[in-house]
Amino acid sequence: MYVCMCHAVTEAQVKQEIDGGASTPRQIAQGCKAGTDCGSCVRRIQALLGEHGARPCPTHRLAAKLGLAEPAAEQARAA
Ligand code: FES
Repeated sequence: MYVCMCHAVTEAQVKQEIDGGASTPRQIAQGCKAGTDCGSCVRRIQALLGEHGARPCPTHRLAAKLGLAEPAAEQARAA
């Protein structure tokens, strides 16, 4: 499925960038140009980053900081 129509970048290509270490939309853009034209795909790129753990949402980071995160998630992270 295409994520960025302007540059014909697929979801798989964005995931490859994330697996390669990209953790921000800017880093994704540097790798495959997604998000560098009209910008309408940036929210989807941000969602993919969140789904793949590259950039946890601020609420989750705050919950973890306050010790309110789900125990299973904390155990997996500690392992
Ligand atoms: S759809 Fe990605 S920059 Fe336009």
